[in-house]
Amino acid sequence: MRTVRVVSAMMLAALAAAPARAQERAPAGETPAQRDARMAWWRAARFGLFIHWGAYAVPAGVHDGQRTGSTGEWIMNAEHIPIAEYEQYARRFDPVKFDADAWVRAAQDAGMKYIVITSKHHEGFSMFGTKLSPYNIVDYTPFRRDPLKELAAAARRQGMKLGFYYSIADWHHPDAQAPNYPEYNSPQKVNPNFHRYVETYLKPQLGELVTGYDPAILWFDGDWIDDWTDADAHEVYDYVRRLKPGIVVNNRVGKGRNGMAGFSGPNGLGDFGTPEQEVPAQGLPGVDWESCVTMNDTWGYKSFDDDWKDTRSLLRMLVDVASKGGNLLLNVGPKADGTIPSESLARLREMGAWLRANGASIYGSSASPFPEQPAWGRFTRSGHTLYAHVFDWPKDGVLRLPQLETPPARAYLLDGGTPVTALHGADGVVLTLPRVPPSTIDAVVVLEGVTRLADH
Ligand code: GLC
Repeated sequence: MRTVRVVSAMMLAALAAAPARAQERAPAGETPAQRDARMAWWRAARFGLFIHWGAYAVPAGVHDGQRTGSTGEWIMNAEHIPIAEYEQYARRFDPVKFDADAWVRAAQDAGMKYIVITSKHHEGFSMFGTKLSPYNIVDYTPFRRDPLKELAAAARRQGMKLGFYYSIADWHHPDAQAPNYPEYNSPQKVNPNFHRYVETYLKPQLGELVTGYDPAILWFDGDWIDDWTDADAHEVYDYVRRLKPGIVVNNRVGKGRNGMAGFSGPNGLGDFGTPEQEVPAQGLPGVDWESCVTMNDTWGYKSFDDDWKDTRSLLRMLVDVASKGGNLLLNVGPKADGTIPSESLARLREMGAWLRANGASIYGSSASPFPEQPAWGRFTRSGHTLYAHVFDWPKDGVLRLPQLETPPARAYLLDGGTPVTALHGADGVVLTLPRVPPSTIDAVVVLEGVTRLADH
């Protein structure tokens, strides 16, 4: 332990205030305070539902009897399915069991505060009643309903924030594909008409979505194609912010996110970084970020993917993310009949049960003040309250917290309220815990009135 330098109460109070953010990411004209106000709900939310749903749910990972090695939503590309043939999947898409209220309720019961659903993935099929192409779920399928309209209404009814994923890459639109090339997404090729696609299709579609469905978030993807330029990115970011000044936009609108963390540097565009399938070891200090993660190994539904993460890993991942100051956007891939796989629903329910008892340690919390992770779990904090998330409950009931210079004013288990003794020892603060933890996944000890931290 390397104690000694004590962080004063004043410094701790300053730490507890809204952390400084990289202001160069905000568009001209927005003050830091305005940006904080715009991001406030998103920062407090911590946990959201990602939904990948499109025509790819119909093949569900199998084309011509062949199981694709790619994720479900990439099947068109991975199996080299010609457009006319792929359209037949879209033609058959008839998710009669779709129930927007049930989906929103599942997210609500999981303790999630927002939903982001694919409005159009790389396949180019619009999951809403766009006027810009008949290749959409209302006009092209027997279903004839607009699931995004229904979700927007259900979300409004249930007080859930709704956002839309939108792919810049489009394997169906003739002006967006690389010409004279048998693949749809060669980053080496360009389409001379790409700008026409941006002006007469992409922007008008975003206009339809923002003005017609009032999303809280736009979540871009497919920015990696060569045709998409930095100028396009700025133009489109400013365009959607003009349409709805309060909207929150991810960093994939811009070029140059780095592959590892999916995060544009401080000069990048967008409001938050998007690490994919990973939690950055130290978080992403100074910027807002959200890890997006699958429950099995696919985003879009694959009938044979049963590589499910268990609830314990998913919950601990949420806590890990929160302890580093980020959000977790956890994915489900609904089936072609409109239902969410039961394995996903079970995990959502179990996470919700834990959050109902322990949500105070997650929502509105900020990053742990300790850069190093304790061996037994994680810390989150809310002002002068620290939450010790104990993953591994000590067998002797003793938990040493060298990170604390003085005992907290009050210590107790968040779930159930059992008081915990906190004494000052030679090694900082020592907690005496009850024999049985309230949860074997993560038992949270609340430490109120923490004013002096050891410099760890
Ligand atoms: C990737 C994939 C895409 C998925 C996304 C989620 O960029 O291309 O299929 O939607 O990640 O973050």
